[in-house]
Amino acid sequence: MECTSKQALEILNSARGMAKDDYWIEHSICVGKTAGKIAEALNLDGDFAKTLGYFYDIGKRNGYGPGVIPHGNGGYEYILSLGYDKKYASVCLTHSYLNNDINCVAGGIPKSDRYNYVFTKNYIENHEYSIYEKIINLCDLLCKQKVMVLEKRLVDLIIRYGVFSNTVYHLTEAQKLKKYFDDKLGYNLYTLFPELINN
Ligand SMILES: [Fe+2]
Repeated sequence: MECTSKQALEILNSARGMAKDDYWIEHSICVGKTAGKIAEALNLDGDFAKTLGYFYDIGKRNGYGPGVIPHGNGGYEYILSLGYDKKYASVCLTHSYLNNDINCVAGGIPKSDRYNYVFTKNYIENHEYSIYEKIINLCDLLCKQKVMVLEKRLVDLIIRYGVFSNTVYHLTEAQKLKKYFDDKLGYNLYTLFPELINN
């Protein structure tokens, strides 16, 4: 089944009050809007990019953190359970991992005893990330509740989660991803977001 960004936003907003706070919803809205803008600048489908932005963290509706099913897996299963095509669910699994590598993630190398580890690892390694999924990977690293420059957000992640054996790897791949889109656009993508000057 197909989905529009309007429907995705309704599903996202219907999760208000379910988790310990709604910060992740405001963050998802920022990611959706930012992704839509980048997609349109690349002459891609802005509404689809926005839809993925509204869906990618939806697994957090059931809470997140230790002891809960990882939100990537939870979101993937939830979007499929609603009857939407895999192209809407896949981003839930892929959004945290850069370079097709389950170890290229903020917050340290994932433990192999976590929920559906083998499935998730195989999925990340064998899935060909679409340009839209790459946009969401980047936008997750550009947004809190507002868009910000990549390095500021990466420092924010380090302050919150700490420094791990894979931190330099993750930072390096994040910078490569930003450059990938700068090169595709032919200019610095920050140009699309004049509000960054005041951030
Ligand atoms: Fe996430």
